[in-house]
Amino acid sequence: MFRQLQLHIHLCLLNLAPAPASVPRLRLFSLKRPGGKGAHLSPSSSATADGVPRPWFGLHSWRESPLNENRTWGADGPQHSPPDPSSSNATYGSGDPALDAVSSLAEFGALVLSTPDPMAKARVSHVAFARWLRRKVPVGEFRPPDRPARPSKPPLVSMRDVPAPKNSGLPLNAYMLHNLAHVELNAIDLAWDTVVRFSPLREALGEQFFSDFAHVADEESRHFSWCAQRLAELGCR
Ligand SMILES: *[C@@H]1O[C@H](CO)[C@@H](O)[C@H](O)[C@H]1NC(C)=O
Ligand SMILES: *[C@@H]1O[C@H](CO)[C@@H](O)[C@H](O)[C@H]1NC(C)=O
Repeated sequence: MFRQLQLHIHLCLLNLAPAPASVPRLRLFSLKRPGGKGAHLSPSSSATADGVPRPWFGLHSWRESPLNENRTWGADGPQHSPPDPSSSNATYGSGDPALDAVSSLAEFGALVLSTPDPMAKARVSHVAFARWLRRKVPVGEFRPPDRPARPSKPPLVSMRDVPAPKNSGLPLNAYMLHNLAHVELNAIDLAWDTVVRFSPLREALGEQFFSDFAHVADEESRHFSWCAQRLAELGCR
């Protein structure tokens, strides 16, 4: 499901991005036209003729890829920029001592889930995966909260109460990006919920399972940051 969600998101990003000279590395996998030779849109695994699942061909290089610091969207696509000093005093900003006290990946996940502020969720996700890659924390074990925390605004409403674009008071691009930001935000929480919820089974599942989901969470936090940045540039928040 994650992969399908990601596929959707990546397609959306490719469609929304102003056509850059060179397409930035948004795709985790190459897309083939349905029905084309060897076509498969499920990147995490696909079944061979004998029904045996075959891992996604890009899995190895994805797992080996270094920490991705391109968390802002520049003129030519994703780019690395140093942390914004004005966010250093924000909740879980760079160097927040509260983050030094976190001692496991599962505890980081629970912290993300119980943090209401979306930007803080994104920051903690990145710190957590960075620390995991540097082998500074074990998987550990933690209990997930019943529901991921959300800010008080905007209010959570049922699907049918979400205003249509023409009644939203937003230009269509901001409306679409806002939707996408919600998808990314939920993807961050879903990935961390998986890490935390299954942490009691870490012996049986093995470290790679947790590493992969923390990696997904970090990627989603990067996508979310891009959406939030662009929404801010469009004058929304
Ligand atoms: C990050 O962006 C730079 C361009 O600013 C690019 O050269 C580099 O390959 C990107 N890194 C990743 C991991 O995508
Ligand atoms: C962060 O907070 C400290 C102490 O409250 C203050 O001295 C410092 O100027 C603040 N830094 C920023 C970038 O706001």
